[in-house]
Order: sequence, then structure tokens, then C-alpha cells
Amino acid sequence: MAKQVKIGFIGCGGIANYHFGHYDKDKNGNPKIPNAKIVAVCDKIEERANAASQRFGAKPYLSYKDMLETEKLDAVYVCVEPCAHDGMELMAIQKGCNLFVEKPVALSLDYAKKVEAALAKKKLINAAGFQDRYVDFIPTMKSWVAHSKVGFFNAYWVGGMPGVWWWRRRDTSGGQAVEQTIHIFDMCRHLFGEVVEVQAFGRRGVITDVENYDTEDASAVNLKFANGIIGTVFSGCFVRGGGGKCGIDVFTMNGRLEYVERVSMHIAEPNRTIDMKTGNDYGQEEDDAFIDAIIHKDQSLILSPYSEAVKNLQVVLAANESMDKGGKVIKL
Ligand SMILES: NC(=O)c1ccc[n+]([C@@H]2O[C@H](COP(=O)([O-])OP(=O)(O)OC[C@H]3O[C@@H](n4cnc5c(N)ncnc54)[C@H](O)[C@@H]3O)[C@@H](O)[C@H]2O)c1
Repeated sequence: MAKQVKIGFIGCGGIANYHFGHYDKDKNGNPKIPNAKIVAVCDKIEERANAASQRFGAKPYLSYKDMLETEKLDAVYVCVEPCAHDGMELMAIQKGCNLFVEKPVALSLDYAKKVEAALAKKKLINAAGFQDRYVDFIPTMKSWVAHSKVGFFNAYWVGGMPGVWWWRRRDTSGGQAVEQTIHIFDMCRHLFGEVVEVQAFGRRGVITDVENYDTEDASAVNLKFANGIIGTVFSGCFVRGGGGKCGIDVFTMNGRLEYVERVSMHIAEPNRTIDMKTGNDYGQEEDDAFIDAIIHKDQSLILSPYSEAVKNLQVVLAANESMDKGGKVIKL
């Protein structure tokens, strides 16, 4: 591997800018990730490609095909809207690029499985954008759950509607469970293991004043895990002016755990409480891990590999299917 990892970006919108912040210079003027450089950036929207190009001295492109044909890249970030995964990952893999793909990694499970197989075949380093796994207290939380007798859990992603054009339609975003609450489904899988059954109800009609909006305002997704744990994951995008909730409440024989997404963890046992707040820059650590894994050729440094993203996608697409079939139980 080259001393400096050469990176290209496909998509320079909201989440790309989050990653860009981790490749900027620190307050002393040194690169935050010294052994990596963003050398090429691509967006269909010219101003976005140009802005990113100026920020890093990278070459701008309007077509990812041109970028992948022209540049010799070690790694590619895919940061496009959920409906835009049109073969870009497969082309990057074919060119031998290690891959970071933002969640949801696609809207088609078949496509995601093709990418997963191609990554495995070429033994490329891969990561997906589930940054919550890098929050510093997660191992403590996971270990407490593993040593507890869990009865059930309730989980939530309830808030307002993101402003990007593609969010409000199922065919472009996948809907809230697929696009947003997938972070919570991921953490549930991280804590409780594999999902074996999914059953869901969704409702529409709470929001009536948003044009071109066709997805659920609210949904409740029941999950059954291989180890017998059951729980419900709620999604809602109808809340305005605060009052939402994102996280997981776990009820066990020896106490209750409350995870506030990316913020804190509270455990109440009969004779003690444990409180932890996020103490690290988990997004920075996610990108640091990707580069370290490439340099050391060590996939085990990645807490959120592409294969986990495929499993998350399978669960949320099953939730959509169940909603569309009036609450039918879907076995995975
Ligand atoms: N991990 C997280 O917390 C997190 C947060 C926000 C968004 N996301 C995910 O990141 C993805 C992008 O979201 P966003 O908010 O950045 O969206 P966005 O609309 O702000 O940006 C997407 C960009 O991709 C570009 N694009 C689309 N197709 C392209 C193509 N073929 N070639 C080049 N550029 C192309 C668009 O022009 C746009 O600028 C989504 O899947 C979203 O779910 C993840």
C-alpha cells in the first residue's frame, strides 16, 4: 500500500461534508489523518464538486465513471442518495478500490449482495456508515446486555423530516425505517444478535402539508431475534419543534438500560446506577479506522463492515414489505 492513501469521493452533499471534516487540517494546521489525501471528488452538481475540489486541492469530476477511469485511487467513499447506487461500487471494486459506503448501502438487497460478494472476492477493505458503533461507551453497553437476561426492548427514531429532496418518497429514500431508523436497527443487531422475524405496521396521513410526500409518517416494527429477544422499533417524522426521541430502552431481569442515541447510556440496577456520556469523536474514529484498516490490510479494525450493512438492509426492507402487506410476518 502507498504511504499515503489516495481517496476519491462519489457524492459531495451533506454526509460527504461530514467525512470531509475528518480529512481537514487540525487547529495546528496538520492534516487530521496524515496518511490519507482526498485527490478526486465527484458530484453531478458542479458547484458541489468544485467546492470539495477547492477544499482539498482535489480534481473535480461530474461523472464517477470518468473519475474511476482516470484516477488511480486506493479508496472510494460512496455518499449518494439511497436510490443512486447504480453500479458505482462494482466499478470501484473492479478498479481495486477499498470502499466506504454510506447507509443505507442500496435500496435493492440483490445489488447489495452483489457488492458484498465482489468485495469478499477481491479481499478489499470495506466499511459502511454506521458511526454509532464507534461511540466509546458501546462496548460497556454491549457487555452489560450480554450479561443480562433481556425480556424485551423498545426503540425509537422519532423527530422531524430531513430537508433533502429525496427523503420524502419511498422510491428515492426507502422511507424512514430504511433511511434513518436503520441506525437504531443496526444498534439492536449489535446488541441482540440476528433478527429472524419481522412484522410491521405503518400509517400515513399525519403530515398533510408537504408536497410530493408519499411515505409513512409513523411505523412500529416488531422484531424477533434468534436468541428469543423481542422488541419494537418506532419511527416517526411528524414531530415539529422538539419532543422527539432516538434511542433504545432495554428491560432485563437485573435492571433497565436507556441508550440515548450517540449521547448517553443510563443503567438502573436495584442497588446502583451507571451513567456514561459520549466522550469521543466517534465520526473521526470511523474514518481513522477505515484508513488504518487499509494501511495495515486489517479488516478487523472496522466495526461496521459492508456485510453488516447488508444484514441491516435485509431487516428494514422486510419491515417495508410487512407494512405493505398489512402486517404480514416476514421470516428472514
Ligand atoms: N451516517 C449518517 O449519519 C448519515 C447522515 C446523513 C446521510 N447519510 C446517508 O448518506 C447518503 C447521502 O445523503 P446526503 O444527506 O449526503 O444527501 P445529499 O443529497 O446531500 O448528497 C448526495 C449527493 O450525491 C450526489 N450524487 C448522486 N448520484 C450521483 C452520481 N451518480 N454521481 C455523482 N454524484 C452523485 C448528488 O448530486 C448529491 O450532491 C444517503 O444514503 C443518506 O442516508 C448518512
